[in-house]
Amino acid sequence: MSDEQPTYTGPERVFSGVQPSGNLTLGNYLGAIKRFVEMQDRHDCVYCVVDMHAITVWQDPTDLARATREVTAAYMAAGLDPKRSILFNQSKVLAHAELAWIFNCVARMGWMERMTQFKEKSGKHKERASLGLFAYPALMAADILAYKATHVPVGEDQKQHVELSRDIAQKFNNDYQRPGFFPLPEPVIQGAATRVMSLRDGAKKMSKSDPSDMSRINLTDDHDAIAAKFRKAKTDPHPLPAHESELEGRPEARNLLGIYAALADEELVTVLDKFAGAQFSQLKGELTELTIAKLTPITEEVTRLMADEGEIDRILEDGAARARAITEPIMAEVRQIVGFV
Ligand code: TRP
Repeated sequence: MSDEQPTYTGPERVFSGVQPSGNLTLGNYLGAIKRFVEMQDRHDCVYCVVDMHAITVWQDPTDLARATREVTAAYMAAGLDPKRSILFNQSKVLAHAELAWIFNCVARMGWMERMTQFKEKSGKHKERASLGLFAYPALMAADILAYKATHVPVGEDQKQHVELSRDIAQKFNNDYQRPGFFPLPEPVIQGAATRVMSLRDGAKKMSKSDPSDMSRINLTDDHDAIAAKFRKAKTDPHPLPAHESELEGRPEARNLLGIYAALADEELVTVLDKFAGAQFSQLKGELTELTIAKLTPITEEVTRLMADEGEIDRILEDGAARARAITEPIMAEVRQIVGFV
């Protein structure tokens, strides 16, 4: 997209969100949580458990509350420091809902209708989807822009939504003749496993909602489950290749090697080198060991943290207070720009 506006000159800030779901997968960990944790050393980061996004499809209230705390615990167990970064749940900071409404009035129906996630999630019965599901990307733009965030680490599947946020920011700046007021946020997509795929089908994303539990590694799986899932994971009949170009058309090989690389913090080329010519069984054995070694401490820490809900709630409240301190002056200016008296 061409950027004709004077560039935003404010500070850099990272924002990202994760939907609260009780069943966090290896995909959530490698594709999101682990990368968010890595960014906190170099950036000013705001991480949000997006409970308002979650209810765009029905959520049992008890499950939602538990999942919100569990995702918070998972972030901390993975090394996120809630003192250095801001960690909170979306519904505690009203700026998200307020700015989302304004953005509902900036975004165009045609833009929203192009969103592939809505098409996928609403399926054949679009008329039965919630209005919130349709407006989901405008709330996401509000999440990001209420903080004037400049960088948004996301998985490949969320790139279109971040691009929509740029369009909304640009149109707001243009319509209200405030060039450079909102930054045009950039998606940050990096790492060996930004897209962790199903263990049963290398063409589908690893998902907590897949009917087959064998398709995913859950952060709560025990050692036997992890071993069984990798043992039964789909493969192809060829030995593992030496070069990335030979992964073309071999999505299962790419996925398993990518997971290994991400867990081991190695480049894909290094991992290709290590397993070149080997059978899948060898990769699966080593992948099982590595996964158990990396996930066990996290799972144990989540269990420990979940034993003290009061402490998790205090952390979320502290994060929310610091979040409000950022959004309040921005929202005061937004209201004035829009003409709200
Ligand atoms: N839609 C994102 C997802 O499903 C979650 C999300 C909500 C988000 N708000 C965000 C991600 C803001 C980045 C920035 O993964």
